[in-house]
Amino acid sequence: MGARDVGLPDVVGSASLPSRVTIWEVGARDGLQNESVVVPVAVKLEFLDRLAAAGLSVLEATSFVHPKWVPQLADAAELLAGLSPRPGVVYPVLVPNERGLDRALEAGVTHIAIFASATETFASRNLNRTLDSQFEMFEPTVSRALAAGLDVRGYVSMCFGDPWEGPVARSQVVAVGERLLEMGCSQLSLGDTIGVATPGQVESLLEGFRDVSRLAVHFHDTYGQALSNTLAALRCGVTTVDSSAGGLGGCPYAESATGNLATEDLVWMLDGLGVETGVDLDKLVETSVWMAEQLGRPSPSRVVRALSK
Ligand code: HMG
Ligand code: MG
Repeated sequence: MGARDVGLPDVVGSASLPSRVTIWEVGARDGLQNESVVVPVAVKLEFLDRLAAAGLSVLEATSFVHPKWVPQLADAAELLAGLSPRPGVVYPVLVPNERGLDRALEAGVTHIAIFASATETFASRNLNRTLDSQFEMFEPTVSRALAAGLDVRGYVSMCFGDPWEGPVARSQVVAVGERLLEMGCSQLSLGDTIGVATPGQVESLLEGFRDVSRLAVHFHDTYGQALSNTLAALRCGVTTVDSSAGGLGGCPYAESATGNLATEDLVWMLDGLGVETGVDLDKLVETSVWMAEQLGRPSPSRVVRALSK
């Protein structure tokens, strides 16, 4: 069922929206990294395959971080060894440093993402580095990855608020982000790690960057603002949006970080606006209902709940 099937009027006011949005699905990584249980590899593989079958073409699969830091993703090598990649689907992985890159290269990845912090405290808690020294870790990692022909995405976390430092200055986020772009990242994903942003702040941050076409947005839904923030970003020219199936997610090293924007909520809104995603919403909802059963708790996504009654 789509927005039109419930008798809503034709789309109006969508002129400033893109005709197509790429969904960067992070459920298997950002979602599962925050579960208290470690999900078996076989379940993760089925999850990825069902997401691909639902039409998602970018599936962030796992992280090559220190297994003690994120035990939920300690099976990264095994997961990639068991993956049957679908044509037209890419499976990026998070890589923090050269050791992570070595492991990712061994596993045959084609797309990686590094993840920087916009704040001093989160750089220390998430990466065991200072704000400045995080770049010493990223620089050799990115240059080697590019030399090996990989695509490299950059994340910036804590772009709006930080649980320890409070509001984050736009200039600080832009400085970190532009540095990642200059390093050779093909795309920059701006993370509202703790989900505190509101749409005016999103517009203001996006205006701070030189080239909006290289930006993606990554909203967590702690205060229920993720969809409004996404719409604001689309109106500013962003065409890649991160989300997680069923609204799984959070960050183990950020206090008060809850789930990501749910992919189903995003697809419902974009379907209603006539913006293409290539995603089959019914198949996706079935996948999230199945995943919720594996995790033993219902999906927090409003659309999953509405469509699975
Ligand atoms: P460290 O302890 O400073 O590491 O951790 P180190 O470089 O000092 O090395 C210590 C030991 O760890 C060495 O082993 C290394 O080989 C090993 P030893 O010589 O002592 O036997 N090591 C590794 N082993 C396996 N894989 C590796 C690796 N690196 C070092 N990659 C480190 C630094 C970055 C590794 C650590 O802090 C870490 O793993 N952090 C990851 C935290 C994380 O994954 N957080 C969640 C993702 S970020 C997020 O969710 C936000 C996002 O969604 C966007 C948003 O919402 O805003 C992306
Ligand atoms: Mg996140």
